[in-house]
Amino acid sequence: CGIVGYVGHQVALDVVLGGLRRLEYRGYDSAGVALPSAGDLLVERKAGALANLEARLDEIGREGFVSTSGIGHTRWATHGPPTDRNAHPHRSSDGKVAVVHNGIIENFMELRAELEARGIWAESDTDTETAAHLVAIAYAEGETAGDLPATVRAVARRLAGAFTLVVTHADDPDRIVAARRNSPLVLGIGDGETFLASDVAAFIEYTRSAVELGQDQVVTITRDGYEVTDFHGEPVTASPFEVTWDLAAAEKGGHDYFMLKEIEEQPTAIADTLRGHLVDGRIVLDEQRLTDQDLRDVDKVFVVACGTAYHSGLLAKYAIEHWTRIPVEIELASEFRYRDPVLDRSTLVVAISQSGETADTLEALRHAKDQKARVLAICNTNGAQIPRESDAVIYTHAGPEIGVAATKTFTAQVAANYLVGLALAQARGTKYPDEVVREYEQLEAIPAAVAEVLESLGEARALGQELAPSKAVLFLGRHVGYPVALEGALKLKELAYMHAEAFAAGELKHGPIALIEDGLPVVVVMPSPKGRAVLHSKLLSNIQEIKARGARTVVLAETGDETVRPFADHLFELPAVPTLLQPLVATIPLQVIAAEIARARGYDVDKPRNLAKSVTVE
Ligand code: G6P
Repeated sequence: CGIVGYVGHQVALDVVLGGLRRLEYRGYDSAGVALPSAGDLLVERKAGALANLEARLDEIGREGFVSTSGIGHTRWATHGPPTDRNAHPHRSSDGKVAVVHNGIIENFMELRAELEARGIWAESDTDTETAAHLVAIAYAEGETAGDLPATVRAVARRLAGAFTLVVTHADDPDRIVAARRNSPLVLGIGDGETFLASDVAAFIEYTRSAVELGQDQVVTITRDGYEVTDFHGEPVTASPFEVTWDLAAAEKGGHDYFMLKEIEEQPTAIADTLRGHLVDGRIVLDEQRLTDQDLRDVDKVFVVACGTAYHSGLLAKYAIEHWTRIPVEIELASEFRYRDPVLDRSTLVVAISQSGETADTLEALRHAKDQKARVLAICNTNGAQIPRESDAVIYTHAGPEIGVAATKTFTAQVAANYLVGLALAQARGTKYPDEVVREYEQLEAIPAAVAEVLESLGEARALGQELAPSKAVLFLGRHVGYPVALEGALKLKELAYMHAEAFAAGELKHGPIALIEDGLPVVVVMPSPKGRAVLHSKLLSNIQEIKARGARTVVLAETGDETVRPFADHLFELPAVPTLLQPLVATIPLQVIAAEIARARGYDVDKPRNLAKSVTVE
C-alpha cells in the first residue's frame, strides 16, 4: 500500500492526491483521503484506481477541502475485498480519528473482540479499523488523553505484526502522527511544510531532503518539523538524507507507460550499477561491514528473493559457482526460513530485493542473521529495511521503477549479482586479479550490447501484436537461458494475464512436450553456438521436435547463428556476448513482447490487475 501525510501551507488535498498518484504502483485496489476540517474530518474513499476517487471528488466539488493537513492511502488489499467500505482511511465511531495503514495487524481479531465487548462494532472487514477505534479511545480517556503522539505510541505497543499507521485527529489538525514497524516510512522536510510517505516519490516534487524512519518509531509531523521517539516515548535521532534523483526520473518522459521508458533505461541502469565498483583493480561493495576474511570464510551461499528478483538470483548461482567454486543454493524467500535451512557463520545469504522492503525477503534475511549467517543485500532503494539490516550492500542504481513489472531493476540485479560473484572470487583467490578485471570489463561492455538490442525492437513489438490472441505461450531455455525463459513467462503472466510456462529445455521430453499443439507459440532462448556448442546442438534438436509437432517457434539466437533459421518462425538476433552475460541481452525482447501483448489486449501495462510493486506482507 502507499501512504501519504502532509502538514503545511498548501491545500492538503492537492498535495496528498499528487503523492498518491506517484505511489499508485504500491497498490491500486482503492484509494482514500482524510482531512481535518473545523473539528470534524472530511473522508472520501473509493474502490478501484485513484482516478475513481478523483472523479468522486470532482462530483462533490473540491471547494470544501481547504485544510492544510491531511492523509491519504492507495491500497493493495489484504483483509477484506477492495470495496468502498474497506478502502482507507478508516474512522473511529466518534468520527474524530482517521487512520491509514500499510501492513498487517496480526492480532486484530483479538482487538476487535475487545472493542466489541465495549459495544464498538466494526464497519469494515479490515484490520486497520481496529487501530482507529483504539486511537479514539486512548485519546479520549486515561493517561494519554488529549495527547496524540502518546496515544499513538500506546496503541502501537498493542499491535502485533508489520505496520505503518498514519493518524489524523479532528481535534488536533496541525499535526499528524505515524508509527512504523517494518513497513516503510520516510519524511520529506520542506520549508514550512512536512511530508510523510511510503516512498520519497510522493514528495520529490516539493523537497529532496528526507529522513528515514527506523523500526518501532513514532513520528509527529507539524508544519515546522518533526519529532521522533520509540514506542515508549524515548527521543530517537533519525537519519536525514538527500534524494539524489529528480522528478523527471519519476515521470513518463513522453512514453505511454513507465514500463516502456524503464525498458529503454536498461543500458544506463546497468552502467550505473557497475560504476564505482572497480577501484584500483579491485571489486568493492557498498556499505561493506564484512572483512575480507569474512568473505574468504564463506563456504556456502544462499540466495533468497521473490518474483523477478528470484529469477535474477537463479543467474547468480551460475556465476558464483563458476567463478568461486562455492556451492550456491537459491531459494524463494517465502520458503526459506520455514524449512530450517542449514546456516552458520560461514554462510553468506544474498537477499535480492528491488524495493528492499518485501516482507518475505526481510524475514528470510532475519532468519539467516539469527542463525549467525552473514547477509548481503542487493537493493534499488537507498536506506530501505533490507539493506539496513545487512552486513554489506550492493545498490542497483536503476533509479525509480514505477511500472509494477520489474524490467530495468532485473537487469541491474543481474549485474550486481555478478559483482558479488567477482568479489567472492577475488577474496578467495579463485580468480587472478587480472581475470577479475577482465570479467568486470566484459560486464562494462554490456550496456552497449543492450542498447543495440533496444534499437531493433520493432520486430518484437509487431510480434507482440500478432501473439496477442494466443491462449498460452511456452518458454524454453537451458543453462542461463532457463532463468531468462522463466522471467519471460512471468512477464507475460503479470502483464498480459496469459498462461505462460517456462521449462528447462532438457525437461521437454519428460512431460511438457505433451502440451505442444498446432500453432502454440514457443519461445526458445538459444545459447551461443560457439560459447556453448553442446547445449546449442541439443536445443536445436528441441526446436525441431516442437516444430514437427506444430509449434510456432520464436527463437532468440546469437547474430550469425544461421543453423536455427530454418526452424524459426520468428528469429531475434542478439549481439554476441559471453555466455554468463547473455541473459542481460536476451531478456529485453521478452519484456517488450509481454508489454506489447498486454497493450494489444488493452491492459494497463504499468498497473497489472491484482499486483503491487512491493509486497510488505508475508
Ligand atoms: C512483488 C512484485 C514483483 C517483484 C517481487 C519482489 O511481488 O509484484 O514484481 O518481483 O514483489 O519485489 P522486490 O522489491 O523484493 O524485488
